[in-house]
Amino acid sequence: MKTCIYPGSFDPITMGHLDIITRGSEMFDRVIVCVLTNTQKKPSFSLEKRLEMIRKSVEHIENVEVDSYQGLLVDYAKTKNAKIILRGLRAVSDFENEFAMAAMNRSLSDEVETVFLMTRTEYSFLSSSMVREVAKLGGDISSLVPKKILGEMDTLK
Ligand code: PNS
Repeated sequence: MKTCIYPGSFDPITMGHLDIITRGSEMFDRVIVCVLTNTQKKPSFSLEKRLEMIRKSVEHIENVEVDSYQGLLVDYAKTKNAKIILRGLRAVSDFENEFAMAAMNRSLSDEVETVFLMTRTEYSFLSSSMVREVAKLGGDISSLVPKKILGEMDTLK
């Protein structure tokens, strides 16, 4: 059974995330979407709200689970017996940070492998922070986040 962990802040989950989760679910037996702490970011949505939004967005995909963890990603992966970390790669600007993160995770644990999927072109410039900004200023984000969580975006206004 091949399990992969799809980690992130998901503040909020976007169509770009959902695209990677969907494609990952076709490649792996089990995908665990895990909300972790990015110490460089201060989330707008509470952990509980982010988990709820992810759960709603992926409920139609059978082999996807949703979880959260306070600590190192590699430690979480161990608890799940997972050896693969899945990440999406957007435009070139993502590369340096993702490269450093994969290298750090590899140095923390020799057992984990990071696998990258290139984001679909239409989502390659999409980020949670941009979604939050556009939502706050009253712009149309209906094609940028899963339909089921669109209502939650009003709370940002
Ligand atoms: O969605 P993000 O903010 O790009 O996700 C980054 C995240 C949460 C996956 C990363 O910050 C993370 O792995 N945090 C957990 C702590 C950890 O393991 N840090 C070492 C690797 S950089």
